Amino acid sequence: MPWEGASMTNNETSPFAPGHPDRAASGAPSSTAQAGPETEVGLDLAVEGLRKSFDGKKAILDGISLAVPRGQAVAIIGSNGAGKSTFLRCCMRLIEPDSGRIALLGENIDHMPRRRLRRVRSQVGFVFQRHNLVSRLSALSNVIHGAQAHHSGPCYWHQALAPKAVREQAMHCLDRVGLAHLARQRVDSLSGGQSQRVAIARALMQRPRFVIADEPVASLDPSAGEEVMEMFAELMRSDGITFVFTSHHLDHAISYADRLIGLRQGRLELDGLAKAQDIAVLREIYE
Ligand SMILES: Nc1ncnc2c1ncn2[C@@H]1O[C@H](COP(=O)(O)OP(=O)(O)OP(=O)(O)O)[C@@H](O)[C@H]1O
Ligand SMILES: [Mg+2]
Repeated sequence: MPWEGASMTNNETSPFAPGHPDRAASGAPSSTAQAGPETEVGLDLAVEGLRKSFDGKKAILDGISLAVPRGQAVAIIGSNGAGKSTFLRCCMRLIEPDSGRIALLGENIDHMPRRRLRRVRSQVGFVFQRHNLVSRLSALSNVIHGAQAHHSGPCYWHQALAPKAVREQAMHCLDRVGLAHLARQRVDSLSGGQSQRVAIARALMQRPRFVIADEPVASLDPSAGEEVMEMFAELMRSDGITFVFTSHHLDHAISYADRLIGLRQGRLELDGLAKAQDIAVLREIYE
């Protein structure tokens, strides 16, 4: 069973395990009993024993433990219904898990009050398959919306109301995704690939430390998908942003991630270096 060797899963990846390399490197205590995830140094995401069921019977997430160090690019693969989106949402507490511990950007968010949680989340950018742009507004206004993670008020809604510095920053973000020339164009007149670039620019506008992308190129044709994914991963790498994305494109997972996680029926079945993976073997996670 090819997954056996790859299933270094919980003990090796858990930051809570005694003797974990990150723990040793950081000089953190090796006792796991008292050490919460917030004690970990250099981990942008630490999850232990995450469980979630929607009906109280079937476990959608069945005890997932995972640690993502700062700056790492991680691809999550797995068949439809494996629990990938649920996992990402639980990591942000957009869905409340039933049990388990979660540390995001070094802070334990398990019982964090909403207001503090919003502050932690403001440093995390999201990009989804459906880009959720405001179609009747321009690309520039949509990118400016990224600043709403840190500010509120109408001047972060429309480019005409935004302070010059904010507009310039948004233009810079659009320029980084190659769309400065379309800044004033309404989003409903853009192609799927261009719209997804606007969504990426909006995430950049947030100045995130961490970006989560759930099937960011699933609605794009193969060529646009390849182009957008390459650009996206390169932006994350050049800015040192921790990047966790899901994909059904195994070649994208291998090419654009440092590390590959495989979920099957809510369990972590694979955790290994992306470059070391063989597509034919990876397909077995879909069986
Ligand atoms: N809000 C919900 N209420 C009930 N069941 C849900 C809910 N959200 C997800 N599920 C179920 O949880 C399971 C995992 O769904 P999830 O969306 O996490 O899978 P996925 O791995 O992201 O799949 P895909 O590749 O299709 O996006 C599915 O069986 C789904 O029907
Ligand atoms: Mg999904």
